[in-house]
Amino acid sequence: MRLEKLISLMKDQGFDGALISPGTNLYYLTDLHLHEVGERLTVLVVNARGEYHFLAPSLYENVIRGFPVTFWRDGENPYEKLAWILAELQLPGGRLLIEDTMRADWLINILRLESFEFHPLSSLVKELRMRKDRREIKLMKHAATVADRVFEELLGWNISGIRERELALKIELAVRELSDGISFEPIVASGENAANPHHAPGDRRIRKGDLVILDYGARYKGYCSDITRTIAVGQPDERLVEIYNVVKEAQERAYRAVREGIKAKEVDRAARDTIAGAGYEKYFTHRTGHGLGLDVHEEPYIGPEGEVVLEEGMTFTIEPGIYVPGLGGVRIEDDVAVIDGKGKRLTRAERELIVL
Ligand code: CO
Ligand code: CO
Repeated sequence: MRLEKLISLMKDQGFDGALISPGTNLYYLTDLHLHEVGERLTVLVVNARGEYHFLAPSLYENVIRGFPVTFWRDGENPYEKLAWILAELQLPGGRLLIEDTMRADWLINILRLESFEFHPLSSLVKELRMRKDRREIKLMKHAATVADRVFEELLGWNISGIRERELALKIELAVRELSDGISFEPIVASGENAANPHHAPGDRRIRKGDLVILDYGARYKGYCSDITRTIAVGQPDERLVEIYNVVKEAQERAYRAVREGIKAKEVDRAARDTIAGAGYEKYFTHRTGHGLGLDVHEEPYIGPEGEVVLEEGMTFTIEPGIYVPGLGGVRIEDDVAVIDGKGKRLTRAERELIVL
């Protein structure tokens, strides 16, 4: 179990313990996925001597196995039980790691128990999570292949005249047919809406002459894919075709720049220089990509400030875009892994402009 790795890192770095609430870090460290915990206090307490104990609502009695665990029932005060666990594990205060995404109401109540010095759990776990092993890469490849297959499928749909929100729903259903679920709410941005990188699909009907940005992903055994393709419905404006070709070139150059030992920001620079060379720099308003794994956005971030040195097994997106207000936008996004020292695309869907 990867929890042992965390414990040895904690010892090395002088932490007394960790409080880990449900989320992708808990899943990564223990393989436990607790569905819909909501407001009920659930936390794994770990100390630097390697002892740990779970506190969980009794709803999960059949799910949490193989751990020392205390369950609490609705109506009981779980913080009294947490205080008991902290005492058992000899953690009266101290320097503790805490799950970054823990609910603020839990944290406020925990801070009333003892005086802790908290540090984000991600600061240690990200070092482990950034480098994927072969099994993880396989799962990510599967998630990426699902996204590819849905893209091929949607090219056969008649999308002219349908609303953005309807197309987003159709994409979501197609992804769910083939995987464990969506990795995030699909983005469908058509026409002038495509000038907004994270447009929420709305009532606009897709029509002839539109470029349409489709950004979606699948989740498979916890691991995410994230693809963006921009397609044309009918022949688009010539300026949009020019923009498309610039983005495609930027995406390709950034991909070719990927290799072990360089900094993330060098990949960003390859994309940014290409777009700047074509005169569209001010319309490329975000970083080139982000790490991908159990979370859709995680380390390493591929931006102008990206100091992380790329290593074998790192997985991230390359997704430059150009967004011109009033006209539209283009983004092309692939998932990439560093394998045998070089970049390898996990996303294989067609990257040439497709006109439906
Ligand atoms: Co995306
Ligand atoms: Co992305």
